[in-house]
Amino acid sequence: NIQGVIFDLDGVLTDTAEFHYRAWQRLADEEGLPFNREANEALRGISRRESLLLIAGDQPFSEEKLQEMMERKNGYYVESIENISPADLLPGALNLLDELKQAGIKIAIGSASKNARPVVEKLGIANRIDAIADGYSVQSPKPAPDLFLHAAKLIEIPPENCVVVEDAAAGIEAALAAGMYAVGLGPEERVKGSHVVLPSLKGVSWTDLKSKLTA
Ligand code: G6P
Ligand code: MG
Repeated sequence: NIQGVIFDLDGVLTDTAEFHYRAWQRLADEEGLPFNREANEALRGISRRESLLLIAGDQPFSEEKLQEMMERKNGYYVESIENISPADLLPGALNLLDELKQAGIKIAIGSASKNARPVVEKLGIANRIDAIADGYSVQSPKPAPDLFLHAAKLIEIPPENCVVVEDAAAGIEAALAAGMYAVGLGPEERVKGSHVVLPSLKGVSWTDLKSKLTA
């Protein structure tokens, strides 16, 4: 009995995961820290601080320096999302949102990003979203279940009646820990444990997805 769907944002509804990656790459290059696209896979869905700590490795940076680097990376990221528009919605996203709305399903965003709200607005989907849980909402980041539990509370749907749509391992882990259904987008090995794995939202209909989840 599914009554709510919680979407991760970056890498699910829009390709901002790529912008996060480029911003981290730029920072890492400036700092002479080894980093590449492959290493970035471990950062998917992870909070800003955790991401930086992974890139920093065993380099003993002061708290002040860590703060400065996080701000610098965020500056690059904010710059890159400035011109986001509805055209940046990933294929299938808008269709699915509309279908869910028509089916009376509550829709939330569950993103670790402090930039989730402006991105949702620029994508032109704010009117289709019932609630946003973002990087300001809870203390413990994914893979802790807190963010998704908070999102479920905002839309007033019990966790067991919620579906999470995620592209990151940490997000799938968080969804399962919250007792929710998990739909993983992307390569199987990245979204292990998901109830349903799909390459993307392209061509996905709610009727189909629901029957796969409840089969
Ligand atoms: C999302 C993204 C991560 C990003 C995190 C924090 O989970 O998938 O790549 O690091 O949000 O985003 P922020 O915009 O607050 O730095
Ligand atoms: Mg994501």
